[in-house]
Amino acid sequence: MTTNVIFVCLGNICRSPMAEAVFQRMVEEAGLSRQIAIDSAATSSYHVGERAHPGTRRVLAHHGITYDKRARQIRSDDLADRASYIVAMDQDGVSELRRTFGEDLQIVRLLDFADHTEVHDVPDPYYGDNFDHVYRLVEDGCRGLLTHIRREQGI
Ligand code: 4NP
Repeated sequence: MTTNVIFVCLGNICRSPMAEAVFQRMVEEAGLSRQIAIDSAATSSYHVGERAHPGTRRVLAHHGITYDKRARQIRSDDLADRASYIVAMDQDGVSELRRTFGEDLQIVRLLDFADHTEVHDVPDPYYGDNFDHVYRLVEDGCRGLLTHIRREQGI
């Protein structure tokens, strides 16, 4: 059975595409591409149809990753039918998802799995220029998340 993972942020142009791309590569390197399916989406409709932010594409390219998908907004069928792990980037995302889809929705925060930071919210880089910092946090969280999923799913 496939384990589904969906990363969610406000716009789906900065943080969640970065997490999707980083996690995708980790999953490929672990030889788990057939067992784990990965996606990302926005809570908002602000940037639907747009490419990832140039800062995200730059930092991904710097690490040898190309990301070509376009932003989309999350839908109820993403959660009901597919997502085994809904991974929010910050507490605002958790709150917004619960407000929209139900307070009992199971959601995790990416940095709850990070080993090397005390921060639990991935900062929003949209108005700043800290994409490299965000990348390091995302990588830390993704590494821990993969360990967690492998343990929980026995893969
Ligand atoms: P993201 O970043 O949620 O990481 O994709 C943002 C994108 C857009 C906005 C805020 C954050 N915005 O306000 O439009």
